Amino acid sequence: MPKQTVRDIDVTGKKVLVRVDFNVPQTADGKVADDRRIRGALPTLTSILQRGGSLILVSHLGRPTGDPAADAPFRLDPVAARLQELIERPVLKVRDTVGPEAQAACAALKPGGIVMLENVRFNKGEKKGDPAFAVQLADLADCYVNDAFGTCHRDEASMVAVPEQFPAERRAIGFLVDKELEILDTLLRAPRHPYVAVMGGAKVSDKILVIENLLKKVDRLLVGGAMTYTFLKAQGLPIGSSRVEADKLDLARQVLDLAGEKLVLPIDHLVADQPRAGAQTKVVGRDEIPDGWFGMDIGPAAAAEYGAIIKQAGTVVWNGPMGMFEVEAFAAGTRSVAESLASSPAVTAVGGGESAEAVEKFGLADKVSHVSTGGGAFLEALEGKVFNALKVIPDR
Ligand code: 3PG
Repeated sequence: MPKQTVRDIDVTGKKVLVRVDFNVPQTADGKVADDRRIRGALPTLTSILQRGGSLILVSHLGRPTGDPAADAPFRLDPVAARLQELIERPVLKVRDTVGPEAQAACAALKPGGIVMLENVRFNKGEKKGDPAFAVQLADLADCYVNDAFGTCHRDEASMVAVPEQFPAERRAIGFLVDKELEILDTLLRAPRHPYVAVMGGAKVSDKILVIENLLKKVDRLLVGGAMTYTFLKAQGLPIGSSRVEADKLDLARQVLDLAGEKLVLPIDHLVADQPRAGAQTKVVGRDEIPDGWFGMDIGPAAAAEYGAIIKQAGTVVWNGPMGMFEVEAFAAGTRSVAESLASSPAVTAVGGGESAEAVEKFGLADKVSHVSTGGGAFLEALEGKVFNALKVIPDR
């Protein structure tokens, strides 16, 4: 069932507490390095402001420890500054979350105004889901909107206990979360076939629950990244010095048995004599990784085969790079998969940290149907988990 969205609630003259996920990377000099998550929340924020509401923004940033000196880089000031540029209105950043400064700023909010509270994880009650802390936060506002898709897999106070403080008609998801849920619904319940999953990344063990769930739904599962070598080793094939999860070979064998013909491993590999930039490289066949060499990327024949399968697909979901794409010499496979998605007429969704980063890096983010703002949340949703943060929002 679709959830009640911000469009469905009356925000005129109301103070709306919007839980956003502005947990964004920063540069060494403390500037926002990637503002995708901030830009992603703008439609919700402007919709509330245009209808005469005001905003109380709540986010976490990083994983602060509770030591004020060590936690200084986790203050939200650079994020507030970037939001102010993007939204072209003043953003009043306060130095606490529920203390006197926050209370005074929220009490003085007028329609069209924006207050950003300090990093919600500076408060111990947040991680614990503490109801007393939740009441303090909820008391600042009239309505609650969850537009923090990247945090929906967490049961923290601002995600679950805070919305519980509001009557049902004053709780909603924002447009960003709505869009993410819509694509997840396609991926999990209504994919157009052929349905292809492209899975990369280092570890089979990190992706096992996603793989198991998607195998029930997809027609093909194309494998890349370092997890390839765990599968090859499980089949008794040579992997040279490639990265491997030596204690997960049984798990890899179980996946291979379960998947049968659906699971496609690269038919060739790019190998290097060192796992770093500047190494000597060559392309070798599926079962030809030489002793002492490292598998660093899928090879060109595998990239072409994956491209052909993606071209024929009705739906494609991609999680995890095909190789160590941060190093240009090992980026071709990941770039090729990104280009195949970008030129495919299929519904194409990219999610989970590094693959989203890859499509951005190759300038192809606008050419796929959806780039998720979730890392862990996107993966856990693909595993089939239902999040408490969404259970507390009424159906439409
Ligand atoms: C993320 O970046 O995945 C989210 O912001 C959640 O952050 P967390 O893993 O620290 O809870």
